[in-house]
Formats: sequence, structure tokens, C-alpha cells
Amino acid sequence: MTPEQRHPDKLDRAVIFLGPPGSGKGTQAIELAKKYGVPHLSTGDMFREHVSKGTPLGAQAKPIMERGELVPDSLVLKMIAERIERPDCSHGFVFDGFPRTEAQAKYLGELLKDHGYKRPFVIHLVIDPSILMRRLTGRRTCKVGGEIYNIYDRPPKVEGVCDNDGGELMQRPDDREEVVGARLQAYEKQTAPLAAYYQRRGLLHDIDASKSVEEIGRQILQAVRGAR
Ligand code: AP5
Repeated sequence: MTPEQRHPDKLDRAVIFLGPPGSGKGTQAIELAKKYGVPHLSTGDMFREHVSKGTPLGAQAKPIMERGELVPDSLVLKMIAERIERPDCSHGFVFDGFPRTEAQAKYLGELLKDHGYKRPFVIHLVIDPSILMRRLTGRRTCKVGGEIYNIYDRPPKVEGVCDNDGGELMQRPDDREEVVGARLQAYEKQTAPLAAYYQRRGLLHDIDASKSVEEIGRQILQAVRGAR
């Protein structure tokens, strides 16, 4: 993104993307973070990096992720607390896949208060679950830059190759059909209640996530600007 395309305002807050696997959190969070020039903090990406580097944290998370379950709160929270203390977070950041349990949401509330941030703005991607299987099993991600494609709805120009940087496209192990069901169940049981949690606090903004990527992006930007 060139400096001219970047949004002129500062974000100065945490934006949270809440929605089931495949609702488009990553796709939209990356774009919003680029627009405001702030970090995109995906806990899923952080764990996948630990797994690929073979760290002790990665070794703990790997079997849990492969079963489509949530990694224990204690491991997630430590990782987040360390990450948002880095200087690149001083003008806000965009969470993708965090928080995912009420304990994580409560901890984040305290953490933001302690660091002097405004209350977070929560974008809730609302979507019919029947659409999600196709989105997840069709997803391919660039090994180099992380760009997200879908072989059915958002294919690259050349099969298996990223349009942006020519990187190889890969399928996530947890996007296999047999694991997706467990991920959707974990979402319903442990994460979906957060919509009511943030609604009660007046922080939730619903967005219809069945529209086009571009239309959803426009609505999100409008909502975030309106919240300022
Ligand atoms: P994570 O990586 O966070 O995965 P997820 O929540 O399951 O979400 P996804 O990344 O699958 O979907 P998305 O909503 O980002 O959709 P995307 O934009 O990619 O977590 C993985 C695992 O890590 C968890 O299962 C857990 O084990 C662990 N973990 C992570 N965070 C944790 C936490 N806080 N606590 C505990 N454990 C944690 O889009 C999907 C596809 O749809 C793409 O192909 C895309 O091109 C396509 N698409 C997107 N938008 C549209 C659209 N509008 N129209 C058509 N297609 C679209």
C-alpha cells in the first residue's frame, strides 16, 4: 500500500474481528490493518509460525490445532501480552481470531485499560454456516506473503501461484473437511457467546459477511470511521 492509499487518520484502538472459521476475518483484517498502517495480529498465524519453527509453544499447540480445538487460554494470553507491548502497536492494532473465549475477552479488556487504549471496536462477521465449508476447503494461502485465495471464488491467475509475489500456495492442514466440523463446533460453544458479551457493552458492530470481499471492506471502513 502506498502512503497515498493509506488512511489519513490514526486508528489508536484495538479492532477485534469476531466470526466463525471462514467468515473472512483474515481477509478483512489484513486490509484494514494495511489501510491504517497498524499491525495485523492473528493468533492463528502466530501459532502456525511457532509450529513451523518447532518451538516448545508450537509443539504444544500443534496437536490441538490439528484436532480443530482451541489452544488453552494461558498460552494465548502470554503470547498476546508480549506482542502488544512492542512499539509497532502504539497506534492501535487489528486482532484476527482473538479473543475467542470469555476469559480471553476479560483479560484483553484489562490489558487495554492498563496500556491506556480506548475501548475496542468489535466487528462481528455474520454468515450462514452452510457457506463456510466451501470457503474453508477451497482456501489457499501464499507461503511467502500470506495472501489468501479461494480456488472456487477467488482463484489466483495461475493455479498454485500467488499473484502478488509468485509464492507457492498451500492448504492449511486444519482446512480438511474432517477437521472443519470440529472447528465450527468449538466456535459455536466457546466463541459465539462473545457476540452477546460485546453487545452488552455496546461495542459490537454486525456486518453481513455473505457479500463480496470489496463490499464488506467498504462497510467495515465506514463502521470503524463512524466509531471514532
Ligand atoms: P485461525 O487461524 O484464527 O482460524 P479460524 O478462526 O478458524 O479462522 P480462519 O482463518 O479459518 O477463517 P477466516 O475467518 O480468517 O477466513 P479467511 O479470511 O481466511 O485459528 C486456527 C487455530 O488456531 C484454531 O482452530 C485454534 O486451534 C488456534 N487458535 C487461534 N487463535 C486462538 C485463540 N485466540 N484461542 C485459542 N486457540 C486459538 O477466508 C476463508 C476463505 O473464504 C478464503 O479462501 C477467502 O478467500 C474466502 N473468502 C473470504 N471472504 C469472502 C467473501 N466475502 N466472499 C467469498 N469468499 C470469501
